Amino acid sequence: MTIDPQIKEAREHLIRARAVAVLTGAGISADSGVPTFRGTDGLWRNFRSEDLATPEAFERNPRLVWEWYNWRREVIAAKKPNEAHYALARLEAGKQNFHLITQNVDGLHRLAGSKKLSELHGDIWKVRCTSCRLVSDNRDVPLSLLPHCRTCGGLLRPHIVWFGEALDREVLDASLSAVESCDVLLIIGTSGLVYPAAMLMPTAKAHQAYVIEVNLDPTPYSSDVHLSLQGRAKDIVPLLL
Ligand code: OAD
Repeated sequence: MTIDPQIKEAREHLIRARAVAVLTGAGISADSGVPTFRGTDGLWRNFRSEDLATPEAFERNPRLVWEWYNWRREVIAAKKPNEAHYALARLEAGKQNFHLITQNVDGLHRLAGSKKLSELHGDIWKVRCTSCRLVSDNRDVPLSLLPHCRTCGGLLRPHIVWFGEALDREVLDASLSAVESCDVLLIIGTSGLVYPAAMLMPTAKAHQAYVIEVNLDPTPYSSDVHLSLQGRAKDIVPLLL
């Protein structure tokens, strides 16, 4: 079997790296059948995620936002991690210094066994009370369209970071410190359009990391990274490790 020279180069960098950071987006879960945000499969009743994933949208119409999340929860509940998720869990087991940063809220990395994990945008399987702020696990599918807090009766919302909201400081700091200190940053399946996640790549580069991208299509990162590998995450990622 001949190995693509680009794959070989990526592999060599990953093997040599003392510290590896990985940033994933919806593209890694697309191979498990989870719709992406900016692909046509991600549209729900013609709403874009930017129309629904905001505090203003929830204030205007919490029922509609919960309907969308109920749809996503239903879709995700039936999905399993794929070869790319499992390969990253194996990489973690083999590297002392490893950090996985994901923008995904689907929980598939954790299901695959990843532990050194920062979930930048929260977790679809958690809810938060808009009154007492209590965060709790909730795997009900579907949830009632206006779910209420068992403790104080306040309205529950998804424990997800929406557009216009700040990321959890600790999660962001852990992610920044991982990209600042890694030798290799592997970026998988993200359009690179949403900040502050999108600043992790330039930050890693500014700290002399070697950056590898895996994506089905070219992205705003592609011309800036050291190696851009085009294809499906589930086909390419296992070959790298
Ligand atoms: P996007 O939907 O913006 O981008 C998905 C990326 O995955 C695109 O660049 C696709 O080309 C790529 N892709 C699709 N299928 C793939 C496959 N099988 N293998 C490899 N790549 C593939 O999703 P994100 O970049 O993750 O935020 O979006 C970032 C954030 O915007 C999300 O976390 C979400 C969204 O609004 C919140 O929910 C707060």
